[in-house]
Amino acid sequence: MEEGSMQSVNVGIIGFGTVGSGTFEVLTKNREIIRNRVGAEVVVKKIADLDIESDRGVPVDPGLLTREAMDVITDPDIHVVLELIGGLGEAKEYILEAMERGKHVVTANKALLAESGEEIYACAERCGVNLAFEASVGGGIPVIRAFREGLSANRIDTIMGILNGTSNYILTRMTRKGLPYQEAVQEAIDLGYAEDPPTLDVNGTDAAHKIAILISIAFGMPAPFGSIYRQGIDYLTPDDIRFAEEFGYCIKLLAIARDRGDGIEARVHPAMVPKDHIMANVNGAYNAIYVEGDFVGPNLYYGLGAGKRPTGSAVVSDIIWLARQIRHGISGLMPPLAHVRPQGGGISIQPIESLNTAYYFRFSAVDEPGVLSRISGVLGEHRISISSVIQKGREVNGSVPIVMLTHEAKESNVIKALSLMNELEVLTDRTVMIRVEAG
Ligand code: HSE
Repeated sequence: MEEGSMQSVNVGIIGFGTVGSGTFEVLTKNREIIRNRVGAEVVVKKIADLDIESDRGVPVDPGLLTREAMDVITDPDIHVVLELIGGLGEAKEYILEAMERGKHVVTANKALLAESGEEIYACAERCGVNLAFEASVGGGIPVIRAFREGLSANRIDTIMGILNGTSNYILTRMTRKGLPYQEAVQEAIDLGYAEDPPTLDVNGTDAAHKIAILISIAFGMPAPFGSIYRQGIDYLTPDDIRFAEEFGYCIKLLAIARDRGDGIEARVHPAMVPKDHIMANVNGAYNAIYVEGDFVGPNLYYGLGAGKRPTGSAVVSDIIWLARQIRHGISGLMPPLAHVRPQGGGISIQPIESLNTAYYFRFSAVDEPGVLSRISGVLGEHRISISSVIQKGREVNGSVPIVMLTHEAKESNVIKALSLMNELEVLTDRTVMIRVEAG
């Protein structure tokens, strides 16, 4: 299409839930702003959802609605297909089919990109169409665009993120109000932050999907999702949060990736961060992504990581990015992972056993002489050196908590020591371990 000749860029939406209706609302309410930014009207031609009856709180012409996703994909007038149903089911077929038919695709589907991205990225390149996925990481925070464009001059050395708003909300409520885990989870569900069910939010999978996507763009190759270590927050208690505070730390679910030269360190787990750490003040349902590039140095991105309006904002930013190109007759401007050729022979993720960091341990012990020396003996045999200990005689489920911080130690040694420790008859429960992230 020649510049200036296009009257409209036509969009079809598959999935009219929270993200779909948020997207429609942005397109409707900011229609004029968007027209001025694109230089053409962005028009929603069709919306597919199994439920076309429920009120989405925004007026929709009933003539746009269909129950058939294929009505959107096969419409010859639609330039951009939005896949907003999510999940690992039919979403993938819809995306591939739309691309095969020459449509550009916008998706918010982090699970699909993290777990089956390779096939989708290859299809986009083969079909000469664009794939945009700003809403897949960090909700309304334009971090994908930052990685694909703003930081594109840099080698990325470090990524550290609070990438799951639900877990962050739960930990914030446990910290501020002393709520037990289950009560904080229920609050998150009631407020609509949590996915339904919240399993993938609280077990670290959602954050691992997101860090996998960021690693993939940073290094130009799909990250092997299965190799990313993940641990959730469901084993933490308000006691751990209070002990962490006594040591001067707070607990956050962190997603971390570091280029170690001989491989990428990639992990998601609860971490103790000093109270003055940049991540310590990211609270409630907020997300933050800290990135270090070799020339730019440190960058920090912060904002709402979930919700109808922020996610709608991210999806519409992708539509605008595509619409500008469509209007100028450009396609395939940027490969999905923003690298024309991979930088190397594949991403190698280091096993968690090779990590070196400091640790927090909470032992549940019987209160009798010699227990501390039994524990420190096992630690010493595994070259784990203690930096501080708290034992206050505070009873937790009939035992006494002994809480320790260690100096930097090797995770493989910690795994061995804890497994031996769980055999000690003076310990009455499994030991709680939290990694400490100082830098
Ligand atoms: N459920 C996600 C979160 C938001 O809690 O951050 C969507 O990615």
